[in-house]
Amino acid sequence: MDREHFYRLMKGEGTFDYERYLNTPALLACQKPFAQLCNGDELQFQIVHQVEELWMKLIAYTLLDIDDYLQQQNTPRVLTLFRRVHLALRLMTDQLGLLETMSPKEYQEIRLQLGQGSGQESPGFRVLLKMPYPLWESFSKHYLEPSGLTVEKIYNSEYSHSAAYVVAEALAEFDELFQKFRYHHLQLIHRTIGLGAKSLKGRPVELIENGLKVQFFPQLWEIRNQMTDAWGARYGVRREPIGEP
Ligand code: HEM
Repeated sequence: MDREHFYRLMKGEGTFDYERYLNTPALLACQKPFAQLCNGDELQFQIVHQVEELWMKLIAYTLLDIDDYLQQQNTPRVLTLFRRVHLALRLMTDQLGLLETMSPKEYQEIRLQLGQGSGQESPGFRVLLKMPYPLWESFSKHYLEPSGLTVEKIYNSEYSHSAAYVVAEALAEFDELFQKFRYHHLQLIHRTIGLGAKSLKGRPVELIENGLKVQFFPQLWEIRNQMTDAWGARYGVRREPIGEP
């Protein structure tokens, strides 16, 4: 096939309303010109990172709306928007798989193009790390405190599958899906550059493993421990076998 011909077609004319509305001329110019790509995998590498940034922009924007709805105790809106956030986080994690089609050698060639760049500088990731605490504040202030509720009450002693409980579970799911992204990213590093090697920022495995220990909403994980210990106290450390009927 005539590459130059198809490269031109890929750009589009930029004159249709579809192209104007989506600003495709600017969007499709966000990647390196084909002639400057260092190998056949670099376009994918750039696009996956760019798409990840767009999903993180959408997630951050949606979390701001969720915060407003938490303050209004508008639970249906909170849950619908959390569904969007959860799906976007799943997409982010699934997309990492695309980069597993890149060989370790091709990554090393791409790495030479990255300068001092590191995922730690990702604007989307950095803003997301700052959002959970204010979200928890809004949840606490508008779902727990007004009715004298606590995490223990909504999960255990006064459990009724209440609005506070389902919102808490949506927060827990956000935390869990963020961890899954981080875990799959660690696997991607394992597969691409190895976990023992040094990166520009030091030993990547240590940095990333520290991230894996971060819990946005520790109260929501701790309650599970407390419940298992409290309920477990009824049967001690070991349960009796059920035995013959
Ligand atoms: C083959 C592909 C990839 C490799 C080899 C890789 C490698 C690394 C390494 C070694 C680090 C540790 C910091 C450093 O040394 O720079 C890191 C951090 C990071 N990377 Fe990647 N990465 C890849 C793809 C991605 C993608 C697609 C994203 C999408 C968002 C991403 C987001 C991040 C983030 C947010 C951090 C900071 C993590 C934290 O501070 O906990 N990486 N990456």
